[in-house]
Formats: sequence, C-alpha cells, structure tokens
Amino acid sequence: MVIARTRSELDAAGAMGSVLVPTMGALHEGHAALFRLAREHAGPTGRVSVSIFVNPTQFNEAADFDRYPRTLDADCEICERLGVDVVFSPPPGVMYPEGEEVPVGPLPAVATEPGLEDARRPGHFAGVCQVVRRLFALARPRAAVFGEKDWQQLQVVRAMVRREGLGVEIVAGPTVREADGLAMSSRNRLLEPRCRAAVVSVPRALDAARGESDVARAEEAMRRGLAEAGLGLEYAVIRDAETLLGAAPGRAGRALIAARCGAVRVIDNAPWSPAGAANG
Ligand code: PAJ
Repeated sequence: MVIARTRSELDAAGAMGSVLVPTMGALHEGHAALFRLAREHAGPTGRVSVSIFVNPTQFNEAADFDRYPRTLDADCEICERLGVDVVFSPPPGVMYPEGEEVPVGPLPAVATEPGLEDARRPGHFAGVCQVVRRLFALARPRAAVFGEKDWQQLQVVRAMVRREGLGVEIVAGPTVREADGLAMSSRNRLLEPRCRAAVVSVPRALDAARGESDVARAEEAMRRGLAEAGLGLEYAVIRDAETLLGAAPGRAGRALIAARCGAVRVIDNAPWSPAGAANG
C-alpha cells in the first residue's frame, strides 16, 4: 500500500483508473464495507484507492470541523488490512492551492431544493461538490463508491457526475449499522452516553415509517418516536428517492431523518413505499 500526499505521488502510485472511495477518515465498519465493495468493482487486478481528507469547505460550523475525529495512523492500518492499494492523504495546500481557484461548479437541483441537508447545512453541498470534483481531477478514478448513509450526498454526486459528464461510475454501498440499528458514523464517538442510548430511536423511527402506507402517517410516526426519545427534530420526511422532492406514486420513496442530541447531529434514511406496510 502506498500513502500519497501530493499529485505526483498519486500519479506514481497508479491511482488513475482505480476505484476510489472518498472519506474524511476516522474509519469504521461502514467505510470498510465500501472498501470491500470497491475491491469487488476493481476486480483482483484493478486498484482501489481511498482518500482521507477532512474537507474544511463542507463544514458549516467551525467547532464541528475542529472536533471532527482525526485518526490517520489507525485509518492507514485499516486500509492496509483491507487490501487498499493507495491512500491519498493530502495536506490542505494540495487540495486547495494558494491563489488557485478550485471550482464548485453549478449545483444540481437536489443539492439546493429539497430543504433537507441543503437547508440545515448551508454551503455543505457546495463544499462536497468542490472536494469531490477536485478528488476526481487529481485521482482520475474509473469509479467511485459512496454510502447510502448520506443519501442526499449520494444523489447530489450522481446528479453532478451525470450533468457534467465527468465519466466516473458512481457505485452505492448499503448502510452499515451497529447491533442495535444505529447507522455507523465517525461522529458517533462524540455522543455522550445519554445520547448514545437515545439515538437508537432514529432507526426505530424509520422502521415505524415502514409500517405506515400513507405519507402523512409515516411522517407522524417518525416524529412521535423521535420526540418520545427526547431528540431535537430537524426533519423526518418521506420523499422521492432521487429528487428528494415530494414522493410520487409509482416512484421509489425514501424516509429521511435528521435529529440532534447534545452537540451531535444524527442522520439516517431507509427505503419507503406505501406497499411496505403490507409486510410490516
Ligand atoms: P465520510 O463521512 O467519511 O464518509 C465517507 C463515505 O462513507 C461516504 O460515502 C459515506 O456515505 C460513507 N459512509 C459513512 N457511514 C457509513 C455507513 N454506516 N454505512 C455505509 N457507508 C457509510 O461523506 C463524506 O465523508 C464526505 O462528505 C466526502 C464524500 C468524503 C467528501 O468530503
């Protein structure tokens, strides 16, 4: 495994044409599952690269950026163990060189219109599009793997790549969960014990939504569950899975939640369809 910090090191390591998994580090089993999926897509002779960069332009609170866990040595060990070929861990000056403008590009509608993460975290998707575009330009991967955990991000990246013909195949990996159902996240380690117990209500609320065949009742079931657990509700909605606008009959739906406990935000999502209630 090669650890590259600059563009020329990345070129020399053979990142071009690889399957890339962009991350911000503090790696956990959710990331590891994406690395395995990347390996499947690369095939035994293809290369898998992982980028580790805590991207300042996508944080809308300085405190969140400052306290974001940084565990590079442990991250590299995980990558090595999982057969990653190249770790790209650039200093900020390589991603955003002084005096050079790194374009954000036009944001797709799914990054600005749904009123979900876009509304709660102004500027967040501009930062995500900027860094993903930059990573693609530096690493020139054949494909890139993103997690369903960050559902709106996945739709934003897909829409950006499609609209601009970036020529990178986007592969989605399912959400990996703790034994009690909580979606794994680098920020989970920041949860105080009272909150760790309370946030299990998030996946439970998604389950409760699956038992309702009507959008309004499904949303109400989610809100009730989150309120009972004492979480601060940001949104709990049923939307069209791709546009993240209103759910429409005959199209895949998605249940999406953002809630807060203490200083930590938890987001999660699951498939939803009116027919889901028939089995639930
Ligand atoms: P990060 O939060 O480190 O996540 C990296 C990738 O892992 C994302 O595609 C995310 O959706 C996925 N992921 C996180 N938790 C997961 C889980 N429990 N199961 C499956 N996949 C999971 O998302 C980012 O970083 C950044 O925004 C990035 C895309 C790297 C741009 O800076």
